[in-house]
Amino acid sequence: MSARKPAIEAIDIGKDYGTFTALSDVSMKIMPGEFLTLLGPSGSGKTTFLMMLAGFEAVTRGFLKINGFDKTHADAESRGFGMMFQGYALFPHMTVEQNIAFPLKVQKRPKSEIRDRVTDMIDLVGLSGHGHKRPSGLSGGQQQRVALARALAYEPPVLLLDEPFSALDKNLRGQMQDELRRIHAKMGTTFVFVTHDQSEALALSSRVAIFDQGKLQQLADPTTVYERPSTRFVAEFLGDINVLPAIFDGPVSKVGDFSVTLPEAPAASARHIAVRPEKLALQPESSQIGLPCVITDRIYMGAQSRLQLSSVADGSPLVIDIKTADLSSAAEPGHQIRVGWAAKDSLIF
Ligand SMILES: Nc1ncnc2c1ncn2[C@@H]1O[C@H](COP(=O)(O)OP(=O)(O)OP(=O)(O)O)[C@@H](O)[C@H]1O
Ligand SMILES: [Mg+2]
Repeated sequence: MSARKPAIEAIDIGKDYGTFTALSDVSMKIMPGEFLTLLGPSGSGKTTFLMMLAGFEAVTRGFLKINGFDKTHADAESRGFGMMFQGYALFPHMTVEQNIAFPLKVQKRPKSEIRDRVTDMIDLVGLSGHGHKRPSGLSGGQQQRVALARALAYEPPVLLLDEPFSALDKNLRGQMQDELRRIHAKMGTTFVFVTHDQSEALALSSRVAIFDQGKLQQLADPTTVYERPSTRFVAEFLGDINVLPAIFDGPVSKVGDFSVTLPEAPAASARHIAVRPEKLALQPESSQIGLPCVITDRIYMGAQSRLQLSSVADGSPLVIDIKTADLSSAAEPGHQIRVGWAAKDSLIF
């Protein structure tokens, strides 16, 4: 076991706004240098949790430790975290350059260092030539990049970022994600990053914390949360998934007449088998094995195509993703086919 202390430790944290409970019983350890992402639907408590880590919202219940010290009620400055808020909060009366220089000035860095650093950060976020403008003269995505540059400028040991790319188009978002990955690898900064974009969370993070309705649902590495989600909510939130009613009987269960070997013993409450669309395979036409389905639609998506299916046994809808090049012309609406999947790919809920 590593003797390193967590950069941040939350112990049974809760937050009430009046009579409304926004967060309950959130515990987690964030290790130095981690890239931890908070993921969840709108209103699930991500910003609330981040604001409590930052010291901008009071903690109602529980404890918060920073580098091993109790900081539950410490003020924001004493935590030394960099923060980028949802909604940017740029200083409207300052230019782009002055906004980015602000945290460096507060830290009384030498003038020449501040100038160089501001130029570097403006380059980094692709805003060369905009340094003299006020925020009101920038687009939403440009303002967001200024806020990101300001948060990154003084290289804090911990950076809290609340949806830093939400206003950016797909290409720019991809570029900024690459930058953030590079900065993380180079500087060893601890990132706590909020998004409601599943693929962004999986692509960037060392671990993902999934929130729903103010509760932490699962905290694990990207592969685990995607491949072995602990609840049906997590499975459905992280991507498309086929959820099929099943009858459980020992190590084998039945979806309609199709017997499915299970990867683990089901809980007594188990009612469904779930499989991701890319884990399903079309069985050869002559095969008698697999779940019989009728194709209801075929959707071209470029390299991949998606078949929408209806289970013959009970009409359950399914989707299956297949490389377009592998799809036979017989895979047309109205045709009956069979689909199968590996035992390890069954999730039980
Ligand atoms: N100041 C406040 N007063 C009362 N309720 C609040 C306050 N701030 C947040 N809430 C409520 O707490 C819950 C969690 O809000 P929060 O902003 O943490 O969600 P979020 O996960 O960040 O959502 P989003 O993805 O939309 O940003 C919501 O139901 C919200 O309405
Ligand atoms: Mg939020």
